[in-house]
Amino acid sequence: MTRHFASGRRVALLVVAVVVLLFVAFLIFAHRPAIAEIAPPTRGAFSETDIARGAELARIGNCTSCHTAKGGRPFAGGVPIATPFGTLHGTNITPDPVTGIGRWSEPAFARSMRQGVARDGSHLYPAFPYDHFSSLTDADLHGLYAFLMTRRPVHLEPPANRMIPPLGFRPLLAGWKLLFFRPARFTTDPGHDALWNRGKYLGDGIAHCGGCHSPRGVLGNEKTDQPYAGGWVDGWYAPPLDATSPAIRAWTADRLETYLRTGLSTTHAAAAGPMGAVAHNLAQVRGPDVRAIATYYADLMARAPAARREPPLPDRADAAIRAHPEGAALYAGACAMCHEPGAPMVVAGRPVLPLGTQFHEHTPRDMIQTILQGVAPPVGAQGPYMPAYAGTLSDTQVAQLVAYLQTRHGTVRWDDLEKEVARARKEGKP
Ligand code: HEC
Ligand code: HEC
Ligand code: HEC
Repeated sequence: MTRHFASGRRVALLVVAVVVLLFVAFLIFAHRPAIAEIAPPTRGAFSETDIARGAELARIGNCTSCHTAKGGRPFAGGVPIATPFGTLHGTNITPDPVTGIGRWSEPAFARSMRQGVARDGSHLYPAFPYDHFSSLTDADLHGLYAFLMTRRPVHLEPPANRMIPPLGFRPLLAGWKLLFFRPARFTTDPGHDALWNRGKYLGDGIAHCGGCHSPRGVLGNEKTDQPYAGGWVDGWYAPPLDATSPAIRAWTADRLETYLRTGLSTTHAAAAGPMGAVAHNLAQVRGPDVRAIATYYADLMARAPAARREPPLPDRADAAIRAHPEGAALYAGACAMCHEPGAPMVVAGRPVLPLGTQFHEHTPRDMIQTILQGVAPPVGAQGPYMPAYAGTLSDTQVAQLVAYLQTRHGTVRWDDLEKEVARARKEGKP
């Protein structure tokens, strides 16, 4: 008996030893060295050209969306970012020496952007789109560094992250990277001109359009074999930007450029939700970069159905009133004065509702979010904007409205609308 007991104990000890060894091996594998602190550089250390270039790249990269809180100081962080694994916060990337990146050398900054590793050696969560930023050239990284290091330092510690245990343990991210992280590389495609290649470099890279417009796997990994096939962000659906684009009107380079620069395409719709912020940032970019991005994505969508044929817009008003009288009444009272053909806003040149891709996507989610959250005015325009109805309409009423609009103008069938509204409220940013 005793002998049995002893060998049982030996096996147990062996198992423990192996587990400990594996864990230590993993920690060694996950380890990244810290990069020494530096004295914060002064403005004189950078050329004005580099700073200006960095400013443009920061706009194209939409950095403020995650690093500038609502009503907060620029780049001081604290923006909550909801993920299926908990809530993260955009960090303070002003040159404050204590709470920001003031003591980060340029190699430390470059390593964070290309490998997702902070100056102190800890791994960063892929909510920070380094899987896209990794393709940036040295010159562009230098510009971004010059721009950030010459911002006003703000002393502000972002709130602590709340990740589902054990995901708060950062070395685990080394495992995620081993499975999914392949640093992006840009190579010129000789089959296309310089403008297209520039658009690809920017769009796949710093602009990380795929961060929202590509589908993700269960571990938050972008499915790189289905680039731009449509994805989810903050309870919104970012529609496909490839040959499966559900848009009912072709996305030509001209139309895309206008949409990206102003947040409004008169042949489509406004950029609502998270896309609104992207357009607001791109509006401040001068030079040919936005044209380049538009050229690249117009080409990716060149074989979409609408590029071959632009069908007539459905308007089944009578059938919709008969099928959804409550929704029709709500629409007449709350929406028609802006959206009915003949309303002043439409007469002044705004697109009619069914031009919007929201009516032709497989999910009602964007239409629901638009009704709940409203639409900020397009860049530069003094209204009209769309008010938010989250506080005034119940889930049932929003579902009735969407059912009416879908029957009147839609080209896709949606079900379980009330459940969708409840989900949209839960997942959408307030
Ligand atoms: C989609 C959201 C998002 C965007 C867009 C984004 N970041 Fe971040 N960034 C984050 C998050 C979240 C973190 C923190 C990750 C963590 O805690 O592991 C982060 C961390 C960083 C860090 C590391 C700082 C530190 O203290 O650890 C740097 C540097 C950085 N971002 C720079 C940028 C720049 C420059 C841009 C624009 C070109 C940008 N980020 C755009 C979300 C974003
Ligand atoms: C933060 C997430 C996010 C990023 C980054 C983003 N988008 Fe979007 N995009 C969206 C969402 C959400 C929508 C749907 C908005 C709506 O319904 O009005 C959208 C809509 C669009 C549309 C309209 C599609 C249609 O058929 O109506 C285009 C075009 C587009 N985005 C292009 C881009 C390009 C190009 C980039 C990169 C420069 C980009 N997006 C970056 C979230 C994003
Ligand atoms: C004060 C005017 C106003 C009212 C009232 C209004 N909207 Fe809008 N709505 C807008 C504007 C502005 C846009 C952005 C598109 C544009 O500029 O044409 C918009 C866009 C939309 C879009 C498409 C957004 C996109 O990006 O594809 C939908 C769907 C929509 N509204 C539904 C409604 C519904 C339903 C109601 C009633 C509950 C309503 N709106 C009330 C002004 C209004």
